[in-house]
Amino acid sequence: MKPKIIILSGAGMSQESGISTFRDANGLWQNHKIEEVASPNAWNQNPALVLEFYNQRRRQLLSVKPNAAHYAITKLQQYLPVKIITQNVDDLHERAGNKNVLHLHGELLKVRSTKNPNLVYKWTKDLYLGDKAEDEAQLRPHIVWFGEAVPEINNAIEISRQADIFIIVGTSMQVYPAAGLVSILPLTAKIYYIDPHPAKFSVPNEIHIIKNSAGRALPELVNQLIEKYVT
Ligand code: APR
Repeated sequence: MKPKIIILSGAGMSQESGISTFRDANGLWQNHKIEEVASPNAWNQNPALVLEFYNQRRRQLLSVKPNAAHYAITKLQQYLPVKIITQNVDDLHERAGNKNVLHLHGELLKVRSTKNPNLVYKWTKDLYLGDKAEDEAQLRPHIVWFGEAVPEINNAIEISRQADIFIIVGTSMQVYPAAGLVSILPLTAKIYYIDPHPAKFSVPNEIHIIKNSAGRALPELVNQLIEKYVT
């Protein structure tokens, strides 16, 4: 029987593509705490600053590529059922050919109406005040800001509950509700945690900590899983 594999990825997944993580850059952008810029309050106080923050990240995203960790998942999906829950707003999973990707915190290459959240558009240019949706409302990044609800969390819980194997890659497990997913897994689910500086958390499940980078450890783990469950 092929095990159902669920992958929870964080910023560490994209670090080797050249996108800095949140806590490695000690959570600062131009001396602003990221929690302050990525927030409804910042949007109300200084929308131009928030738009510039995302314009810079969107431009950078268009200049980087997926890394070996992203491509390892594409390989794994050719042999075993794999679903991905990512905290990342980049599209590197998709660009590497990963399928079944659920973005918990939104997507950097999408924007939406500030009035009707169902009006979502693909967007790869800079976004400015005055850029409007079809409902004439100002467009905003399609990102879940600190303090906002995480609309996809119920889907993520549903998916996590199916896990036979749960692979955590490159997340400090500090931001909820994403970090809470590890506590609602089936007790039989086996957890692998790939991170050079793994956070500590206690769950009853069997946990395999792999203190290494995603680009090195994930291809190796993928080969082990294929060896074990496919050949
Ligand atoms: N490979 C694997 N893991 C790495 C690598 C790498 N090359 N480089 C760094 N890491 C690890 C770090 O050790 C850290 O544990 O990636 C993790 C990154 O943690 P954070 O910067 O906290 O990012 P993340 O956990 O994804 O943050 C969660 O917080 O800022 C919000 O919404 C934002 O989605 C983000 C959420």
